Amino acid sequence: MENVFPNFNLIDHPLVKKDITILRDKKTQSEYFRETVRRISNILAVEIGKTLKLRKTNVVTPLERTIGYKLDQKIILIPVLRAGLSMVSGFLDLIPDCKVGHIGLQRNEQTLKPEEYYFKIPRVDINSKIILLDPMLATGGSASQAIKYLKRKRAKEIVFACIVAAPEGINKINSEHNKIEIYSAALDRELNKKGYILPGLGDAGDRTFGTL
Ligand code: PRP
Ligand code: URA
Repeated sequence: MENVFPNFNLIDHPLVKKDITILRDKKTQSEYFRETVRRISNILAVEIGKTLKLRKTNVVTPLERTIGYKLDQKIILIPVLRAGLSMVSGFLDLIPDCKVGHIGLQRNEQTLKPEEYYFKIPRVDINSKIILLDPMLATGGSASQAIKYLKRKRAKEIVFACIVAAPEGINKINSEHNKIEIYSAALDRELNKKGYILPGLGDAGDRTFGTL
């Protein structure tokens, strides 16, 4: 599907396309599913990492003094439980000194509205950058709710990283949070009547944790 959405960054990479196919395959078991999500998260971290602020520092090599760089922001990863947990290790591989918070949201299967059951995040400073993690952006209800909570905690800079996004979810985030950049490894066609993404990969939480 063509990317015509504002604030939506679709990762166009052969390795991502190959790995998304592994995730879509219903025969892929949890162990391989988790490993694949981790690899895609590595690439998402590289892409989002391009936006991080740096400050200069001095460093002494075995030969001479030169200029180096340090991250100039506190980076906070916030996985949306449960499925967002699967993306944490892939981000920590690239940005090991992140803080990690958690937001527990469960989509009600009848209303499709998210219901909160857990919220614990590190202190948010003016200079913090929050990377919200959830593999699935379907109706957008869960991501939008999580962003609302984070804004209440005075988060200024938030980006949302997912594996598969549906147009309905992207439109919801764009209309309710127009400054939030979305990074996704795939852009799918639509939602079915039960709010599942088509073609999608099924229930990301169940496939990650083997609770099918
Ligand atoms: C899934 C997914 C998102 C949400 C997306 O979680 O991980 O959080 O659904 O749907 P939405 O965009 O329509 O809100 P779910 O509520 O199934 O919980 P789980 O991660 O515990 O399986
Ligand atoms: N949540 C999932 O895990 N998968 C979908 O397709 C939609 C919401």
